[in-house]
Amino acid sequence: MTSFPEGFVWGTATAAHQVDGANWNNDWWEWEHDPSSPCVESSGDACDHWHRYPDDIRMLADLGFGSYRFSLEWSRIEPEEGEWSAVALDHYRRVCATCHEEGIRPVVTFHHFTTPRWAAAEGGWAEPKTADRFARFCEHATAHLGDLMTAACTINEPNIVATMGFLAGVFPPGKRDIELRRRVNDILIDAHRKGADAIHAGAGDVPVGLTLSMNDYQAVDGGESKRDRIRHTMEDVYLEAARDDDFVGVQCYTRMRVGPNGALPPEEGVETTIMGYEFWPEALEATIRRAWEVTEQTPVLVTENGIGTDDDTRRVAYVERALRGVLRCLGDGIDVRGYTYWSAMDNFEWALGYRPTFGLVAVDRTTLERSPKPSGLWLGDIARANALSD
Ligand code: BGC
Repeated sequence: MTSFPEGFVWGTATAAHQVDGANWNNDWWEWEHDPSSPCVESSGDACDHWHRYPDDIRMLADLGFGSYRFSLEWSRIEPEEGEWSAVALDHYRRVCATCHEEGIRPVVTFHHFTTPRWAAAEGGWAEPKTADRFARFCEHATAHLGDLMTAACTINEPNIVATMGFLAGVFPPGKRDIELRRRVNDILIDAHRKGADAIHAGAGDVPVGLTLSMNDYQAVDGGESKRDRIRHTMEDVYLEAARDDDFVGVQCYTRMRVGPNGALPPEEGVETTIMGYEFWPEALEATIRRAWEVTEQTPVLVTENGIGTDDDTRRVAYVERALRGVLRCLGDGIDVRGYTYWSAMDNFEWALGYRPTFGLVAVDRTTLERSPKPSGLWLGDIARANALSD
């Protein structure tokens, strides 16, 4: 057996809009119902985690996990500007409390892709005021839950919010404007800083960081300068902003090859996943190393890593190889604090709907019944042992 360091945190993750259900008051719900968007279906009831969270958290604890990363739905907590829902805040307080009762550390994400309709209607992330509004939301939520959080992520994958929403047009608001995307990056960084300050002010020494979508960007056939340019806007601006943070959340699924003219399709002969990504678990090691280097040694928490597949044996193979990469990083002295698998359960995969299945637990789409997959039992055992067998 090869052991992970004492205190290494093993967790799984979800996000409010992907599991809670009936989050109709945010920009994503609107986007799902816009016939001109690429969304294949509505999130609808999702996994009804809003009501089933006690059983879900108990199930994750029984599997062997020690942390649970979930997100707050801003549009439930502040349904109109300045109008705060005590019921929604109490709900998330109970979610945190349930985690503690089950021996699980609650890792709270304050923004995971969804923005209240009122804030989106006033410009969303293209509007500098949204950073201040987000900070005010962080302040209110922290005042209510701060004492129960064990770690806080301000914004999930701000680089994806900016790129998919303002350059690729696949996420709301569906824009394709390279200059605007650059401005949105700046506004999101401002929101992260202001949000982190608000969380620190209310929750004391709870570690706060942002989480970043990272790829192992590999230059091919002279694609170095193109690769560096893409990577700069996608990752470096955020990693540089994370230098003074308590941790940086690394989220990684695959590699991306870049030639002189841009990103290349999967290499011939390499297995692909439901998402169309290359099966490339070693990307996690490469991105942890890069995050550590560019942030100038901000501690790393793997806040997402996983695979969308119908073949659960491929999930086990993927995670095992990814974890060997984490061990190599630890062996080289990189401060990796924990590993979080995405996702705890099969859920709403944004524009692609319910088809891609990332979960360690299957969710029947008719009955919403949960069934742990063999990969869930396998990873839970590793979490309990805090070690990987040789
Ligand atoms: C996001 C998740 C998403 C996952 C799998 C990450 O980009 O944070 O919301 O479901 O990747 O695609």
